[in-house]
Amino acid sequence: MLLSLKNISKSYSSNATEHRQVLSDINLEIKEGYRVAIVGPSGSGKTTLLNIIGTLDKPDQGQVLYREEDISQLDNQQLASFRSQVIGFVFQHHYLLPQCTLWENILIPTLPIRDRALKNQSTDRGKELLKRTGIWAQRHQKPGELSGGECQRAAVVRALVNSPTILLADEPTGALDQRNSEMLAEILFEFNQSDKITLIMVTHDMSLAAKADEIYILKDGNLALQN
Ligand SMILES: Nc1ncnc2c1ncn2[C@@H]1O[C@H](COP(=O)(O)OP(=O)(O)OP(=O)(O)O)[C@@H](O)[C@H]1O
Ligand SMILES: [Mg+2]
Repeated sequence: MLLSLKNISKSYSSNATEHRQVLSDINLEIKEGYRVAIVGPSGSGKTTLLNIIGTLDKPDQGQVLYREEDISQLDNQQLASFRSQVIGFVFQHHYLLPQCTLWENILIPTLPIRDRALKNQSTDRGKELLKRTGIWAQRHQKPGELSGGECQRAAVVRALVNSPTILLADEPTGALDQRNSEMLAEILFEFNQSDKITLIMVTHDMSLAAKADEIYILKDGNLALQN
């Protein structure tokens, strides 16, 4: 199994007396290369779940296993390297740096790489991805000079430049109009299919979720597979 979540629980406390259980004893198994959608009402904990999978947040209880290895046992340095090698993130907003060109933005994840050959490999991958997402011609422009759809495609390129195994996408089309949503979804699905990148996507868009191999519904702290 590529990824296993075992008995994951997470609660937040807004003050000393109020605890809100966001995730209650969640179990989830994700196979390599799969395309998984997570849907559910606003505030149901979808982002919290994605952040736990991506090691940006820690569960109160439970384990996250990557290829059967418990990643909660990793120290901070190992976690940072796990995140940069295994996980790519795309959010609802692109979070590109406005003062940098697209080319500079998409190379940011390659900056910490010391090994020359690996760095070159990621740079070459960046070129290829910019071409495949149709924004190669715009690579010397800054985000402010580009459309929302183009910026979001650049955010996908940035997420994939180090060739991660898993792409986590939190409402990736949430800020886009229909045409750009469809284009972005096609790009995500194409990378999932031809590059075997496991895609875990949170979305409100049921037509997008319907194109996943598996749809999970998160509600009242529980995760259920939709049949
Ligand atoms: N850092 C935090 N501190 C306290 N409460 C939090 C924190 N992060 C999330 N929450 C609470 O946890 C619950 C789940 O939040 P989360 O962002 O995971 O929901 P979501 O399903 O992604 O919602 P949306 O669809 O609106 O993005 C919400 O009630 C939220 O207020
Ligand atoms: Mg959210």
